[in-house]
Amino acid sequence: MQTGVSTGTAQRIGVPREIFPGEKRVATVPEVVEKLIKLGFKVSIESGAGDLANFSDDTYRAAGAEVIEGAAALWAASDVVFKVRGPSADEVGLMREGGTLVSFIWPAQNPELMQQLTAKKATVLAIDALPRMLSRAQKMDALTSQAGVAGYRAVIEAANAFGRFFNGQITAAGKVPPAKVFIAGAGVAGLAAIGTAAGLGAIVRANDTRAEVADQVTSLGGEFVKVDYEEEGGGGGYAKVMSEGFQQAQRDMYAKQAREVDIIITTALIPGKPAPKLITADMVKSMKPGSVIVDMAAEQGGNCELTEPGQAVVKHGVTIVGYTDLVSRLSKQSSTLYASNLFRLTEELCKTKDGIINVNMEDDAIRGLTVTKEGTITWPAPAPKLPAAATAVAAKPATAPAAKKGHGHGAPSEPMAGSKLAIMFGVAAALFWLIGASAPKEFLSHFTVFVLACFVGYMVVWNVKPALHTPLMSVTNAISSIIAIGALVQISPMGSAVDRPNDLITWVAAAGIVLTAINMFGGFAVTQRMLAMFRK
Ligand code: NAI
Repeated sequence: MQTGVSTGTAQRIGVPREIFPGEKRVATVPEVVEKLIKLGFKVSIESGAGDLANFSDDTYRAAGAEVIEGAAALWAASDVVFKVRGPSADEVGLMREGGTLVSFIWPAQNPELMQQLTAKKATVLAIDALPRMLSRAQKMDALTSQAGVAGYRAVIEAANAFGRFFNGQITAAGKVPPAKVFIAGAGVAGLAAIGTAAGLGAIVRANDTRAEVADQVTSLGGEFVKVDYEEEGGGGGYAKVMSEGFQQAQRDMYAKQAREVDIIITTALIPGKPAPKLITADMVKSMKPGSVIVDMAAEQGGNCELTEPGQAVVKHGVTIVGYTDLVSRLSKQSSTLYASNLFRLTEELCKTKDGIINVNMEDDAIRGLTVTKEGTITWPAPAPKLPAAATAVAAKPATAPAAKKGHGHGAPSEPMAGSKLAIMFGVAAALFWLIGASAPKEFLSHFTVFVLACFVGYMVVWNVKPALHTPLMSVTNAISSIIAIGALVQISPMGSAVDRPNDLITWVAAAGIVLTAINMFGGFAVTQRMLAMFRK
């Protein structure tokens, strides 16, 4: 077994058992062990590390991992340690000097842990510090994968505590109305909860201070309930604290929803702030007996005044679930997703596939994650360089006025000034007149087709919801394979191929047909798969 710090030979990744009370996840799973080994690493697992997520030592052994007895031996043997929860002081003590750790850390909330890790001259990649606005970071985004699991589980907990069906049914014994579910906050967890509750057949409503999520709520089968107050809830995908006027209007709306619905799931969170109190004790009192509240923000103080973190309690006839371990309650699923996120990160850290990690501080995603490098604190990272479009979104002032009605499908929020429009039309008309008067007849017919194609393309794209633009692109990509007709003409008996059966053009045309056929059928297949994700 290799125990020394890497000197050009493959490094050993070690996965200890999680020791935080109630934590059932494990940082890697057998199918990911195989992939890590293919990247050139050796992998060790502490005996029993996967037990609570239903992965036995034997399944890890079968995947090629070495199973080590005891945490001390595991930490001592590992060049790189993968964990879920940040290490305790004892675990840091077991860590090798100059070792590498990949884990949740939350550096802002854990300054002492940061000091302990720097004393060990450690290089630490905090998975919670990933710059989420980089689109290439999505595959490594463990916060998103874990919040998605939690949102799903929140609905399952609600269904467990609720005494009725979620879907409406007509039975011989009578009619059962569908359950009404209200979701407060439509971020990652909220959207997962909307999809799950709608999938179970409930009537789902949702609210978020960021009106931009309304389309996503609708596409998952929910109804977006607006607060009757014009104020934008934060730019660049992050929420902000709202004005007192907005909060009052929101309270009125939430009070109405509390009287009407059977289940409330709250997920509202503003990064770095205590959870906003959205459900008051009076609202709980006004709910029907047997109703359920699942407060996902329990750990941050709760979105409901009566939540008891970690507990399920019944108050005023309403069950209030404040579990803080929703992800651990689905530990096999959450571990698998987390392990996959860490594998994607490892791929980025080991592009040479030689089993040696390279923490490249020039790479925006890696730079963002690295909170200590060889004992020096490198957190917080400077903001990553974003592509121009993303920068524009991020830089949008939080106080920008609310989007105007009627521009919900991606139209520019600032209407074009009338005079500008008139000038544009004038110039276009003059250009058309000039072309019509001077261009040859042959050109004009091609030009007419071109203008009509532009018009049709514009109308199609504009009338398709932004959420469906990706499937639209893949289907238009498939349609573009119509150029296969050109290649067919080249090799058909009507073309000139009969005179030259073996010449280069015929072979190039044949290759063209094969490639465009892949593009065509592949494009339609991808579109079908994407559209299936939008269907319930
Ligand atoms: P997120 O940041 O993606 O979503 C939070 C959403 O709340 C945002 O869309 C934001 O705009 C919205 N929001 C903020 N203030 C609001 C207000 N006053 N009214 C309405 N909407 C408001 O966060 P994510 O990842 O979805 O997590 C949601 C919550 O779930 C967090 O509190 C998180 O800590 C918690 N969580 C709990 C777990 C558990 O086991 N209990 C596990 C994972 C997450």
